[in-house]
Amino acid sequence: MKILVTGGAGFIGSNFILYMMEKYPDYSFVNLDALTYAGNLENLKSVEKNPHYKFVYGSVCDREKVEEAMDGCDMVVHFAAESHVDRSITGPAVFVETNVVGTQVLLDVAKEKNIKRFHYVSTDEVFGALPLDKPELKFNEETLYAPHSPYSASKAGSDHLVRAYHDTFGLDITISNCSNNYGPYHFPEKVIPLFITNAFQDKNLPIYGTGKAIRDYLYVTDHCSAIDLIIHKGKSGETYCIGGDSEKNGLEVADAILGATGKPDSLKTFVEDRRGHDMRYAIDHTKISQELGWQPTVNFTEGIKKTVDWYKENEEWWQRIISKEYLDTNRKESNEKVK
Ligand SMILES: NC(=O)c1ccc[n+]([C@@H]2O[C@H](COP(=O)([O-])OP(=O)(O)OC[C@H]3O[C@@H](n4cnc5c(N)ncnc54)[C@H](O)[C@@H]3O)[C@@H](O)[C@H]2O)c1
Repeated sequence: MKILVTGGAGFIGSNFILYMMEKYPDYSFVNLDALTYAGNLENLKSVEKNPHYKFVYGSVCDREKVEEAMDGCDMVVHFAAESHVDRSITGPAVFVETNVVGTQVLLDVAKEKNIKRFHYVSTDEVFGALPLDKPELKFNEETLYAPHSPYSASKAGSDHLVRAYHDTFGLDITISNCSNNYGPYHFPEKVIPLFITNAFQDKNLPIYGTGKAIRDYLYVTDHCSAIDLIIHKGKSGETYCIGGDSEKNGLEVADAILGATGKPDSLKTFVEDRRGHDMRYAIDHTKISQELGWQPTVNFTEGIKKTVDWYKENEEWWQRIISKEYLDTNRKESNEKVK
């Protein structure tokens, strides 16, 4: 089995490659990544010399590169994306380019190469927001699309394209819509690694608005095990919702991290709310649990402890990333490479 993983140098993609290479030592993996500010090959140091792993530098929007990377592959697991909601508010264009156009290029090449399974990693944010006063409501596979941010709109657009390639051309596809992931190798602009690295440095933890917005947190290896099941046992044309059964608001996340790092409450700071902030996401994962036997295995308290421990042990990894020099060089280099 040879699998093309796009965006494998990012947070979830690199966890997925590490998870799969350990579980399936006979499988081969090609990682196609444009190494934007969010891509980091250091995440994959432990496998870079493994003969079953190959890195291809390039963009999912570049058809020739995609053809080269997909050559001889049986499956595609597509993670590559611009993934940060706040950045989509200040600069939406690249989100449409990478998330929509890039997905279409991959689908076209997958169709030509008769790829056996194209799995698209999407988000619960395509469903919009749930009200805070109706905790019984959750997103599931029947929920109508109602994206609010340019990020979620671009992901919704690509979900529809993936389904269209199944319905129109018979491409074998699956889609997963998952909740907020956390764990090792998470770029410290996202809330959990930002709070952890700030706490370690005695910096403030910036909480949006009143801190009441709720996310359903999913430990990243639980997400990897769900994708593993879907690509092997999921039915073509189907969507699966993946959630962590761990709904927490911003204040609860801050409290958990301050507790796990032993830092004072005074680090909590309220900042201006995100524009168009969705107040609640929550996933009902009954379908994947009943049909494929998947369950999240890491609860929030345990997951935060594991994540804090990882950031404590890997200070060099995140210190380098948050240094201005790294961000300037990485952005400049990746802009030049993509040109
Ligand atoms: N992180 C979450 O909580 C979460 C939740 C739901 C869905 N998702 C989805 O999962 C996927 C992975 O998310 P993540 O958090 O690992 O993202 P990330 O930002 O950490 O990684 C994205 C990766 O894609 C690469 N990339 C960006 N543009 C590219 C291009 N044009 N061509 C090739 N590679 C490119 C980057 O270099 C990076 O390695 C995304 O599709 C995201 O929408 C993430």
